[in-house]
Amino acid sequence: MPDTPLYQLREVGKEVAGPAERLVILRRIDLSVKEGESVAILGASGSGKTTLLHLLSTLDTPSWGEITMRGRNLAALSGEARARLRNREIGLIFQFHHLLPEFNTLENVAMPGIIGGMPRPKAFDLAREALGHVGLSERTNHLVTTLSGGERQRAAIARAILMKPQVLLGDEPSGSLDEANGEKIAELLLRLNRELGMTLVVVTHNQGLAQRMDRRLELHAGELHAQV
Ligand SMILES: Nc1ncnc2c1ncn2[C@@H]1O[C@H](COP(=O)(O)OP(=O)(O)O)[C@@H](O)[C@H]1O
Ligand SMILES: [Mg+2]
Repeated sequence: MPDTPLYQLREVGKEVAGPAERLVILRRIDLSVKEGESVAILGASGSGKTTLLHLLSTLDTPSWGEITMRGRNLAALSGEARARLRNREIGLIFQFHHLLPEFNTLENVAMPGIIGGMPRPKAFDLAREALGHVGLSERTNHLVTTLSGGERQRAAIARAILMKPQVLLGDEPSGSLDEANGEKIAELLLRLNRELGMTLVVVTHNQGLAQRMDRRLELHAGELHAQV
């Protein structure tokens, strides 16, 4: 089904219980993301960008509306099926790397494979391959506490691509880095999109990255609109 979008969101909304009344974070989101596309999500702080990424990642569920991924309605999947989908088909990159300090780089990157039930040698092989993609082959046996900030974020990206997911979801992936390291992360994400065909949906304040992506969408007042 080559024409089935990777993601299709129809009238999706999210509300949460606030201190006094219910707070509508996302009012009405209509979005279609094609396989292989790169989409930047922009918007002021508090506009709901992280909330939207959590919905796309299946970590959270919408209050109304429907999200399908490759034609599958996410709401119809069991918790277990959603966890499997997250493990195999979605790569998540956050502002902070969330690597485990007690493990070395290779073990951290192999973690999704090990958690997903893969034999350890296979997970380590994939981890070496992923570290090659992010230019960290020399750091395999280093404890992550000895890596620089930029290297840690590249290791987090290697972990995100370990299972060869169809989509990478990034929440301000260069937001905690200086400009030069942020640029390296931007280059890396664009290369993974171009060379490995991974779809990118990335929340970013990095205009240099946003401008080089296929589309820029801005969240405002709970709605998503093309940025002109
Ligand atoms: N679980 C929650 N309970 C209450 N308020 C929330 C919750 N999650 C997010 N919010 C609020 O919703 C708004 C959007 O949050 P968020 O998606 O993190 O925005 P962004 O990532 O664009 O900064 C913020 O005002 C935030 O405080
Ligand atoms: Mg956020």
